[in-house]
Amino acid sequence: MTPLLLALPGDAETARAIAARLGGDVTEVSLHRFPDGESLVRIEQEIRERSVSVVATLDRPDPKLIPLLFLANTARRLGATRVGLVAPYLPYLRQDHSFRRGEAVSSLCLGRLLSRDFDWLVTVDPHLHRHHSLDAVLSIPARAVAAAPTIATWLRTEIANPLLIGPDAESRQWVSEVARHVDAPYIVLEKNRLGDREVEISVPEGVDLRDCTPVVIDDVASTAGTLIAVVRTLLAAGAAAPVCVVVHGLFVDDADLALRRAGARAVVSCNTVAHATNTIDLSAALASAVRGFFPQ
Ligand code: R5P
Repeated sequence: MTPLLLALPGDAETARAIAARLGGDVTEVSLHRFPDGESLVRIEQEIRERSVSVVATLDRPDPKLIPLLFLANTARRLGATRVGLVAPYLPYLRQDHSFRRGEAVSSLCLGRLLSRDFDWLVTVDPHLHRHHSLDAVLSIPARAVAAAPTIATWLRTEIANPLLIGPDAESRQWVSEVARHVDAPYIVLEKNRLGDREVEISVPEGVDLRDCTPVVIDDVASTAGTLIAVVRTLLAAGAAAPVCVVVHGLFVDDADLALRRAGARAVVSCNTVAHATNTIDLSAALASAVRGFFPQ
């Protein structure tokens, strides 16, 4: 039977792009918000004896999580044989440690919730730093799609003579992979986080920034404080205006515009979170990972 993707409002476009590659169907789930803030989800399509997957990109996650969990529960109650989750952006992974006494390890809290209600999960480049794989967070089978090959294809056609730049040690895993696919040089800068929106960036000694197009690559841009500091530091060091490429562009409070104002030549994101900067389409890579979870 053809794969069936269930999309909450806001996720239908992503679900349709994946379904088109997968040869699957999409049904839009209705979501009613009561005046008191409670949510009611409804699946009108017959799903008895079907293997289904919810598609939900989980940026700004808190208002989305209750409907998501209710949807998984409802799909099961209506007779779905398996209920997967395609979450192109998986949130809360940056809080992967209790940094101060008493703090939640949010990554594990979320992982436990999702593992209870879903049978499998597909995401894109989860922020795995202290956790070395999704298995450390989830107890269900999971696939992490790598954006690097698709980013590399875009870079090869759009950017001449790139020098790839990771803002901090955590970005090495992404920037080095893209560099391998493009066959371009890369460097990793040093970051010191001073607060939610403020960071200090330094360029290691001896780096030559002349005669290249700097391409800054990171997994997530939230406030864009990191990328803004990188752009300013590179420009101050005499580099050409950098291109900024992120996998997940959250860009709170029009942060992409602030990044352009800081001197970025272009701001580009993958379409894991719907945003005006979406340029790199990962639906083919997502569909191929999702295919493996549906019975042939
Ligand atoms: C941190 O390790 C991440 O890879 C990003 O660099 C960070 O989350 C970006 O946040 P912001 O855009 O707020 O600086």
